[in-house]
Amino acid sequence: MSKYNEPVSANITSVLREVRVFPPTKDFSKHAHIKSLSHYRKLYNESIKSPEKFWGQQAKNELVWFKPWKKVLQWKEPFAKWFIGGQLNVSVNCLDKHLETPVANRAAIIWEGEPAASGKPGEERTLTYRQLHREVCLFANVLKRNGIKKGDRVIIYLPMVPEAAIAMLACSRIGAVHSVVFGGYSAQSVADRIFDSQAKMVITADGGFRRGACVQLKKNVDDALALKDAQGNLLAKTIEKVIVLRRACNDIHIQEGRDVWWHREIEYVDAECPAAKLDSEHPLFILYTSGSTGKPKGILHSTGGYLLGAKMTTKYVFDLQETDVYWCTADVGWVTGHSYVVYGPLANGATSLMYEGAPNFPEPDRFWRIIEKYSVSVLYTAPTAIRAFMKWGVEWPKKHDLSSLRVLGTVGEPINPEAWIWYHEVIGGKRCPIVDTWWQTETGGIMITPLPGATPTKPGSATLPFFGVLPEVVDNNGDPVPRNTGGKLVIRKPWPGMLRGIWGDQQRYKEVYWSEVKGSYFTGDGCRQDKDGYFWIVGRIDDVLNVAGHRIGTAEVESALVSNQKVAEAAVVGRPDELKGQALVAFVTLKTGVPALPELREELRNHVAKEIGPVAKPDDIRFAEALPKTRSGKIMRRLLKQIACGIEIKGDTTTLEDLSVLARLSQNEE
Ligand code: WTA
Repeated sequence: MSKYNEPVSANITSVLREVRVFPPTKDFSKHAHIKSLSHYRKLYNESIKSPEKFWGQQAKNELVWFKPWKKVLQWKEPFAKWFIGGQLNVSVNCLDKHLETPVANRAAIIWEGEPAASGKPGEERTLTYRQLHREVCLFANVLKRNGIKKGDRVIIYLPMVPEAAIAMLACSRIGAVHSVVFGGYSAQSVADRIFDSQAKMVITADGGFRRGACVQLKKNVDDALALKDAQGNLLAKTIEKVIVLRRACNDIHIQEGRDVWWHREIEYVDAECPAAKLDSEHPLFILYTSGSTGKPKGILHSTGGYLLGAKMTTKYVFDLQETDVYWCTADVGWVTGHSYVVYGPLANGATSLMYEGAPNFPEPDRFWRIIEKYSVSVLYTAPTAIRAFMKWGVEWPKKHDLSSLRVLGTVGEPINPEAWIWYHEVIGGKRCPIVDTWWQTETGGIMITPLPGATPTKPGSATLPFFGVLPEVVDNNGDPVPRNTGGKLVIRKPWPGMLRGIWGDQQRYKEVYWSEVKGSYFTGDGCRQDKDGYFWIVGRIDDVLNVAGHRIGTAEVESALVSNQKVAEAAVVGRPDELKGQALVAFVTLKTGVPALPELREELRNHVAKEIGPVAKPDDIRFAEALPKTRSGKIMRRLLKQIACGIEIKGDTTTLEDLSVLARLSQNEE
């Protein structure tokens, strides 16, 4: 039987809602890469009917190869290999390729730092393609000088600075496998990722700036390198070197022999670094993401297929043109930052803007100020941010000239139609198409999305699949459900950018993604298709929550809570939140004799921040004497969800071990 036996359709409230359609404007379509829905459908049908022909042609047109491939696809479910025998290098495709063209002297990265707390404007930096190429080659030589070889894993734990992109590209240049860890993760999370990937090096900074404060990245790394497992073994014992970027943020400790400064190392190397000729299937990066069990999964992506997906989706989904200034607001610590801040835009020779700070620091018009300052034409952000902007009021965007904007994108969670309309009217001046893009860390690139010159949009729907992507909504038996019925979203065919597995655990890869629905990739999302075939994502149907566009596994937060010596048991569920989409509610039972004092809530929240990172802090902690369980001992999450949402308890509770628990939990609400 399926693990997910709650009917997905129960969550769907908008099926019968009147939906407004926004067709692409003639002006936009005229100059777009894909000019009409029929143009899209023609290419889409070709991509599905003859995928190998389609992808072979695209790989030839879009990428430069040292050696051509012999075979486009080898598919032995669930393992795909793309462009077999082909050799290429990602950094060559993102940099060297442009050096013989007028793109060479164009801005590759525009960086805007956080303004000082005094309100002074932020620092700014521009790197042309030629300059970025030089920096990447220098740093690739620094990696080599510090013992990094092809295939070695390197942890990147940096703020949103150009050096994050430089470090990623430098790894790709020599065939090292990077694993970027978001700066908001704790020392424990860094140590766990080092242990799982057996990384040899950490690249970090003395600190990062956020809301006028300094984020102590190097200190976290020092702590991570000293952490031990339950048997007393160092978790990060594989680390040989730590490279530290100086931002003069704070005083740090330098351990002789292990820690070296980025700026000093650069002086020892030269700026020539031939790119490694890498197999198309050579691993490019590992990115950890929450799953339904306690341990994050190391999602593995490889070279050729991933890059092709990132490049093509950036080009078509944002209708990227030479004149664009493109800004994806994601942090490089998430997959969106990988594919749509670094690899996708640079492979297209675009100008990618990076911003280090928060959207409301020093004031809530920070984004609009940046858009005006750099004439940003494409903006890609998250629904959570849009909802926050709505709350802060139209006066902030209205203070700025946003007429340079051409395309608006969203990603990370379903966008509610109200936020969509606000984005369209207030930010896009009713003239910019909105692309609501559905995808995942695992998919490498955008999967379901409108194409701005071609697809009529409906607020709240990610609309139609990208080329080569065959999604379907199915029931628990894996059979397609009728239109307007909820079900599980699966992908029926392999695609070039798909994950190549879970690092070090291919069994888990098979179980998580390929066992739920036979012969298909299971996304973990619930979905329905409307009468026009448009996809409406409902959200996760597994035990993963989407909090402010970040994936958080409930099991991960639970294990963080029970690692506190005062906690006996914990269950974490989601409840809808107006701003963040979902909020985390933790039900906690304490060890005997520990009083449920109000201040313990903050202590436990901080404990979770220490174990995982501030992103995973529960919004709400409720103490209970016991958790409701079935006779077989399983925590009844459905009930807890209802309690968290303040809903009257419904459904079958006859298997509850102790019915009185329910009454106590309901009373426990603040
Ligand atoms: C959710 C982020 C609705 C979804 C790129 C997915 C979305 C998870 C959308 C992946 C969207 C992402 N509409 N839901 N446009 N985009 N999601 O791995 O639940 O951080 O499974 O990748 O975010 O999150 P991840």
